[in-house]
Amino acid sequence: MTQFTRRAVLAAGSAAIGLASVSARAAPPATPLKTLAAAKGIGFGTALSASHLADPAYMAIVRHECASLVAENEHKMYTIIPTADQENYAPADALRDFAVANGLRMRGHTLLWHHPRWMPAWLNETTFTDGRAAEAFLGPYIDRVAGRYAPFIYSWDVINETVDDATGALRETSLSRAMGHSVIDFCFHRARAAAPTATLAYNDYMSWESGSAAHRRGVLKLLEGLRARNVPIDALGIQSHSNYDMPDEFTPAKQRAWREFCDAVVGMGLKIYLTEFDVNDTRLSAGKRHRDRLIASYTKDYLDIMFSYDAVEDLMMWGMIDKYSWLQDFLPRTDDVEKRPTLYDSNYAPKPMREAVAAALAGAPARSSMQVG
Ligand code: XIL
Repeated sequence: MTQFTRRAVLAAGSAAIGLASVSARAAPPATPLKTLAAAKGIGFGTALSASHLADPAYMAIVRHECASLVAENEHKMYTIIPTADQENYAPADALRDFAVANGLRMRGHTLLWHHPRWMPAWLNETTFTDGRAAEAFLGPYIDRVAGRYAPFIYSWDVINETVDDATGALRETSLSRAMGHSVIDFCFHRARAAAPTATLAYNDYMSWESGSAAHRRGVLKLLEGLRARNVPIDALGIQSHSNYDMPDEFTPAKQRAWREFCDAVVGMGLKIYLTEFDVNDTRLSAGKRHRDRLIASYTKDYLDIMFSYDAVEDLMMWGMIDKYSWLQDFLPRTDDVEKRPTLYDSNYAPKPMREAVAAALAGAPARSSMQVG
């Protein structure tokens, strides 16, 4: 397959134009990942920050490869209501406007990141008098945010990361202290009413990694409860970060345990979205070719397993360019070597990881949902 060359991307970027008008000397770009994905009934896209919109080389790649976007931080409560008396939709609107202008779909992430570390400080410090007082804040907030982007946003991560990874228990916050754990059910019901055409997901980072068994069990327990109570949930968002085990540690035994988890999710009748794929290389030795090879090989193995599930309908990358990846700061390397967790390097050149995604998409069975209608 022809490579999507660095020269082509730089040409597109420097002239701030689309790839269609890249100079005749440049090799034609590879088949877009969104095209390979759509042929199988899979959506392909990436997270984006509003600040990235100013990088034309990156936007040329996004337009070429992606069918959908998700806001990296702009739909989170800490962006929209950083202080109790402020509402800030400008960066989320800028991403929506870019998506509309370029014919991209959009996922929503997230109505409630129910984890004290990621809730606005003022909300952590609030003591609600009772459950109704907490609902009187949370309900209208969901109405405003989900309603503002309805029906454009096709799917919302209603709740993010409410299961404690160490214990599998549900996290406590100022909201759960007032409402109990029914805060979760409440958000799903409210989101369904505010965005009736969007699929609704619970999103978390449980994974195949060795330390993740309690997390997986806790998530299954939460999902079973939501199902039993007829809470309107359509999908599990599997973030698909791999942060603690390295890409060469995806052993057959871990793959078996991971399949058991996925089987249980599918058995509940839920769709699966892969919402935040990237590959952390914190502990891999520094050589670029070595890291790229392990990362690409893991990417293919992981996606082959995931695409074997007909329930998997979406693959979102958590960013497409290494230099912008959140992983440069999260669990940093001890040397000063740049991490290589995404499909394109910091000079906008595609890496073997991109070819691994392309190969997994090309080899994926078509989703049965394509035959409906
Ligand atoms: C991360 C963003 O990438 C960072 O820019 C921000 O500082 C913290 O959040 N799981 C999630 C995402 O659900 O929202 C996180 O995004 C990455 C881990």
